[in-house]
Amino acid sequence: SKSYTITLLPGDGIGPEVISVAKNALKLVASLEGFEFKFKEVPVGGAALDLTGVPLPEETLSTAKGSDAVLLGAIGGYKWDNNEKHLKPETGLLQLRAGLKVFANLRPATVLPQLVDASTLKKDVAEGVDLMVVRELTGGIYFGKPRGFGTNGNGEEIGFNTEVYTTHEIDRIARVAFETARKRGGKLCSVDKANVLEASMLWRKRVTALASEYPDVELSHMYVDNAAMQLVRNPKQFDTIVTNNIFGDILSDEASMITGSIGMLPSASLGESGPGLFEPIHGSAPDIAGQDKANPLATVLSAAMLLKYGLGEEMAARRIEAAVLDTLDRGYRTGDIHSASQKLVGCKEMGEQVLKSIDSKVAAA
Ligand code: NAD
Ligand code: IPM
Ligand code: MN
Repeated sequence: SKSYTITLLPGDGIGPEVISVAKNALKLVASLEGFEFKFKEVPVGGAALDLTGVPLPEETLSTAKGSDAVLLGAIGGYKWDNNEKHLKPETGLLQLRAGLKVFANLRPATVLPQLVDASTLKKDVAEGVDLMVVRELTGGIYFGKPRGFGTNGNGEEIGFNTEVYTTHEIDRIARVAFETARKRGGKLCSVDKANVLEASMLWRKRVTALASEYPDVELSHMYVDNAAMQLVRNPKQFDTIVTNNIFGDILSDEASMITGSIGMLPSASLGESGPGLFEPIHGSAPDIAGQDKANPLATVLSAAMLLKYGLGEEMAARRIEAAVLDTLDRGYRTGDIHSASQKLVGCKEMGEQVLKSIDSKVAAA
């Protein structure tokens, strides 16, 4: 039968807890859809540092490159926070994204009807929010040179970075965003800081130039400070947002809270070819790691994105999404999305309930 190779990168903190849940969900939907998964589990981040001395071992990257899709938990933790730059868990993740050339990071923020009350925003503001942040992932200030430490003319210590984008980098992410908007609500908002930054001025120029190729998409531009404000003022005005690496990092965490919790937000990172990288947008949550408290749904929904965007297994993806809704309908909540009268459960139990929902949906069908 059809078989896919999936690289699993549990990573650090709550990473292994949430990956274990997602792996079980993937196995179950594969058996129901009549295909198979071969899982290859390899270390990344702090786990890799402890095992091999580097945050992205060559074997991890080559395993990832040789697979059909990659599912990552999270990386990072106090233990490695003071490591030198090249020995940080975060550097391993950036090397992985660069190595897989996954320049387009899709971060959907959807307020599920079951979770309207979990949002910190008023019900009428949060209800019905359904937006997609298209974040450029392999350029900008995260990768720009020159960068480093040094001294200035006064002998004072400095740290410096460079925000830089080429036409090619802007055009390819803009195209992904226009295509994404076209398949969604037909509205694209490009977020930048073109009133101050040259890299943003070029960004705006290129996005504007490409708009003529997508006459069916309504394009607007917004400065990032205003966008941060508008996201909590009236998030329903947004359909698809396209923005650079660092603004996308920040705005997607902000958008996650509209949906109730950062523990709900999945992501897909895609390149021109080769395997996609799928990961929750949250980090390793060291404050709750090892306590069976993490919300695994962001990772479970990332597994659904893996099935849809990574493998084209649309039906299997839908089974997972339906099961997540069903589990919430049945009242199960981890602490981050819990409110009175619901069943407070841990990561493992939430995972068990998702599996049960996948099963019962089959029985019902
Ligand atoms: P974080 O996302 O790990 O945690 C922020 C807050 O959200 C914490 O209170 C945490 O408990 C909570 N939270 C996060 N995920 C949750 C979940 N699934 N269920 C319930 N609560 C959840 O961000 P941070 O604290 O700024 O960073 C911690 C570490 O993670 C750092 O080392 C950072 O570099 C790393 N990090 C990694 C990634 C990644 O692997 N992609 C993303 C962000 C941060
Ligand atoms: C994320 C994280 C990463 C980023 C860090 C851990 C490198 O915050 O995936 O959002 O900034 O991209
Ligand atoms: Mn982030």
